[in-house]
Amino acid sequence: MSQKTATAIAHPNIAFIKYWGNRHQALRIPANGSISMNLGALFTRTQVTFDESLAADQLSINEAPATGAAHHRVSDFLAWVRHISAIEEFARVESENNFPMGTGIASSASAFAALSLAASRAAGLGLDEKDLSRLARRGSGSACRSVPGGFAEWQVGTGDDNSYAYSIAAPEHWDLIDCVAIVDQDHKTTTSIEGHAIADTSPLQAMRIEQVPSYLARCREAILQRDFEAFAQITEHDCLIMHAVMMTSSPSLIYWLPPTLAIIRAVRDWRKSGIPACYTIDAGPNVHVISEESYLNKVKSLLEDIPGVHQVMISGPGGAAHLTD
Ligand code: PMV
Repeated sequence: MSQKTATAIAHPNIAFIKYWGNRHQALRIPANGSISMNLGALFTRTQVTFDESLAADQLSINEAPATGAAHHRVSDFLAWVRHISAIEEFARVESENNFPMGTGIASSASAFAALSLAASRAAGLGLDEKDLSRLARRGSGSACRSVPGGFAEWQVGTGDDNSYAYSIAAPEHWDLIDCVAIVDQDHKTTTSIEGHAIADTSPLQAMRIEQVPSYLARCREAILQRDFEAFAQITEHDCLIMHAVMMTSSPSLIYWLPPTLAIIRAVRDWRKSGIPACYTIDAGPNVHVISEESYLNKVKSLLEDIPGVHQVMISGPGGAAHLTD
């Protein structure tokens, strides 16, 4: 009986210039490029075993069998891996996260980056970083940015061949920290898949897409120069413009809760008083407050004092997706 197995680890990432909307829905060719940082303290570890004795793909997440939409999505992804590697066996996928799901940290990015590496290796494919990032993109757009290490840019590209992410700076380049303020732990919301699909219904999306190349240039430069003030200005602006698109889509997507806005206002005051801190928010109400490592304790305790903040999770920059054996 033949078994082909591999285990991989990948980190989630937080985008400073956001991906919102697709030019090609199924291939996840994005409407715009994006820039992110991997979160080194958080990870997904995934083992994939192609096994000829299986009659269907099997998935477990944190040791519990997964069915329904999650299973479907992983099985569709594995069908593509089987197609490009010309193998036929079904796979057993065992995945675990060291961070709680439902905290607004997108587990799909680390999940599909780890799955891409483990599944492609188990299937006998030796993909380079670019092709691995292209593969991860098919599972979840933002997953392509969790393949390279540190600070990554996803070049929008024109199609499947050239839409992928690469590192623009190593994790050691800048000791930024992400303090994730959890304001809602049990959030039932519109998923990013549904959100991308209606982005074009906002009259603001076309204008945003036209502007993003200049945002990318400003953010990239600020990261390379470690210029916190320039970084903060473009990161917050990009977050607000994406949420303006979300709010003006049909149907309207309003992800914020009252504590979300309270944190936005507080962070603005902290920065005025000299603390390097800025905010960014994904498709949910929780706020990622980005600062520098020497301000970690200060920013964490300020956040914990804001009513409605349940928990603050901390991470610095993380490395690339990698095999564990
Ligand atoms: O990769 P997805 O489909 O989960 O989309 C991610 C969307 C945002 O988190 C809102 C922005 C981003 O670039 O990560």
